Amino acid sequence: MSDLSRHSLAVEALAQDPRIAQAKKLLQSAVQEHTSKIDRIKGPDPLLQKGYEAQLAKFAQARGVPLYYPYLGSGIGNGALVELLDGSVKYDMICGIGVHYLGHHHLAITSALVDAALSDVVMQGNLQQNGDGAEAVALLLQASKMDHCFLSSSGAMATENALKIAFQKRAPACRLLAFDRCFMGRTLALSQVTDKPAFREGLPSNLFVDYLPFYDAAHPEESTAQAVKVLIGYLSRHPKEYAAMCFELVQGEGGFNLGSQEFFTALMQILKQNDVAVIVDEVQTFGRTPQLFAFQHYGLEKYVDIVTLGKLSQFCATLFNAPYKPRLGLLSQTFTSSTAAIRSGIAIIQELLNGGYFGPAGKIERIHSYFASRLQAISQRHPHLLQGPFGIGAMIAFTPFGGDKAMVNKYVQALFKAGVIAFIAGENPARVRFLVPVGVITLADIDAVTKIVEETLVKNF
Ligand SMILES: Cc1ncc(COP(=O)(O)O)c(C=O)c1O
Repeated sequence: MSDLSRHSLAVEALAQDPRIAQAKKLLQSAVQEHTSKIDRIKGPDPLLQKGYEAQLAKFAQARGVPLYYPYLGSGIGNGALVELLDGSVKYDMICGIGVHYLGHHHLAITSALVDAALSDVVMQGNLQQNGDGAEAVALLLQASKMDHCFLSSSGAMATENALKIAFQKRAPACRLLAFDRCFMGRTLALSQVTDKPAFREGLPSNLFVDYLPFYDAAHPEESTAQAVKVLIGYLSRHPKEYAAMCFELVQGEGGFNLGSQEFFTALMQILKQNDVAVIVDEVQTFGRTPQLFAFQHYGLEKYVDIVTLGKLSQFCATLFNAPYKPRLGLLSQTFTSSTAAIRSGIAIIQELLNGGYFGPAGKIERIHSYFASRLQAISQRHPHLLQGPFGIGAMIAFTPFGGDKAMVNKYVQALFKAGVIAFIAGENPARVRFLVPVGVITLADIDAVTKIVEETLVKNF
């Protein structure tokens, strides 16, 4: 719709109402005044601690599943810093497992949230989508150059939809291919693809999934040849039975393991020759590699059929090319996403596209190389305590204590106490991972975080 024709809309009159601009200005200055006071980490307030612990215990009991961290956010933060309800302030280097890419209380998001608050509905859906949902779809199609985009409200649902699209297109093919140590989500179907036995304990199996070994950077040619051999073996053992292969181009939950263009291309070419759909799960990688999509970073545009994304985009989506258009009835849910998620997601993607994030000299590469250099220096000082760094772009990991899972769990809890929130990834070795808030983190923040990383390594173990 042209800007001119929008003038007759009531919503435009509301948006242009000077009271809205005035209110936004007031809100913004209040937010800035209070968030700017959060300028360094601090420990808990002793006066709040007892009540906080009781609140945490009650919450954990209500969930029925224990909390990993004693974390309840207060609802305020500043950039990479976040305040907890015990009064402590910590560096948030995991960002809701990759959601808060612009950190805490970014003004572009506050503004998007105010717009969402003024909108008519909380949640949008497939039957009645608002114009901003259509705008989000158009933005993703333009950036991905794919043909279609279907919104959803969780990464798992986006990925589940990808499987459904591929199965319907390739029916009656009933098998899937995936990589060792992959993660695709935790629905009943996806927990059968995700390569973690604990995530499917007690669940019935009704999907046939076969696994290929992932790339090994220490043995690039051998590992590529091995994966190709295994793939060809499966395709000849079960001819025409594979609907799709699921790719995580950078294994997130698996430990930030990287592939290579040659590795992915070798496999994808064979899949294409055998009519097996290529699904790329970008729920964790979207916006974090030196290109918006990891499949663009690895130059795989001509191979991908279906792509999923989520986390930092706030709303989630399944992108697919025209040959994979599903028949009516296959995809739908009540919710596509909340208006707040859609408005914020658009603001974040626009910031990414226009804010100098990508390419070899972009923000993502600059932050990565500084962060990695600090970790490398720690590794040189304490080679027995820290190996790495690993990862790419805004996904940075290291292996402490040789990757012993119990020790790594203990270490991230100690880091949390010391003021840095990280998380673990992978097994054998287990790693510490950061999903860095590239949009806001400063070099001084990285210095402060890596200082705590080193002190906690040395002091506690
Ligand atoms: C690669 C990948 N796919 C899918 C998912 C599932 O997303 P969600 O937790 O939003 O359902 C995740 C979540 O961590 C992920 O990392």
